[in-house]
Amino acid sequence: MRQKTALITGASGGIGFEIAKLFAKNNYDIIAVARNEEKLEKACAELKAFGGAVHSFSADLSRYDAIEMLKAKVDEAAFAIDALVINAGQGLGGRFIGEPDGTELAKELDLIRLNVDSYVHLSKIFLPEMIKRGSGHVLMTSSISGTTPVPFESVYGATKAFVNSFFWAVRNELKGSGLNMTLLLPGATETNFFKNAGQSDTQVGASQPTKPSEVAARAWYALMSGHEYVYGSDDAEYEGDIMNRMQSEPQKAQRHRLLSEPGSASK
Ligand SMILES: NC(=O)c1ccc[n+]([C@@H]2O[C@H](COP(=O)([O-])OP(=O)(O)OC[C@H]3O[C@@H](n4cnc5c(N)ncnc54)[C@H](OP(=O)(O)O)[C@@H]3O)[C@@H](O)[C@H]2O)c1
Repeated sequence: MRQKTALITGASGGIGFEIAKLFAKNNYDIIAVARNEEKLEKACAELKAFGGAVHSFSADLSRYDAIEMLKAKVDEAAFAIDALVINAGQGLGGRFIGEPDGTELAKELDLIRLNVDSYVHLSKIFLPEMIKRGSGHVLMTSSISGTTPVPFESVYGATKAFVNSFFWAVRNELKGSGLNMTLLLPGATETNFFKNAGQSDTQVGASQPTKPSEVAARAWYALMSGHEYVYGSDDAEYEGDIMNRMQSEPQKAQRHRLLSEPGSASK
């Protein structure tokens, strides 16, 4: 079988690394992107064990120029991208307005650059060649947080609501292009995400029932079967497709507040 190529952002850890393993196992060469070079090299060494080529690109995707540089390197190496996984994202917990415990604007704007700008930018520059070839797979990692307002993660939730809307619109525009596009909506998953977001003391951050490998397996199956979207677990599906469709925005916000309020882990 011909070796194909998958470009995966956030491939050095968590959900992205598990997704990368599935691509590597299934005859894809990997272009792995993340910031920390040491972590990335370690992940790439594991991915190489599956037998394909693995290329690592260290890039901070919250920076416009880093994304342009990534594209230039991909072009220079003449890689043809068969699968694009836009997954790298971060969270940020805390009170939006508060003294002294309010979140920092600079961190919020960086978060928007990564969780929103990079999704738009990567799609804009990598999709045209895939469309020209008339085939390929595109997976975007959003979150169940994109289906509800999320107090104490207000900016994070809004970035994921953006991803949902953006994904559905572009997917619709690209009907007939030959691309398979799937939206992944994980619920709380056991990765470094909540620790990095400063949310270890919240109920949602303290209990992450789903393994990243389970999320990746569901994503892989959905992507390869042409499903439009998939949740990271049955619980996430119930919350996203039942609860968050039935309740109003203020009801959902109040429900989620109980899980994401700082200190809620010990209540
Ligand atoms: N875990 C959850 O509960 C959960 C729930 C819903 C949705 N999600 C979504 O799932 C996706 C993956 O999250 P995860 O849980 O796997 O988190 P994770 O374990 O923290 O992994 C994040 C990955 O993204 C990379 N990354 C972070 N910031 C980056 C940047 N500025 N530029 C380039 N790469 C960057 C990280 O490597 P470096 O730090 O070295 O850059 C790492 O490889 C995110 O979009 C997240 O919003 C996660």
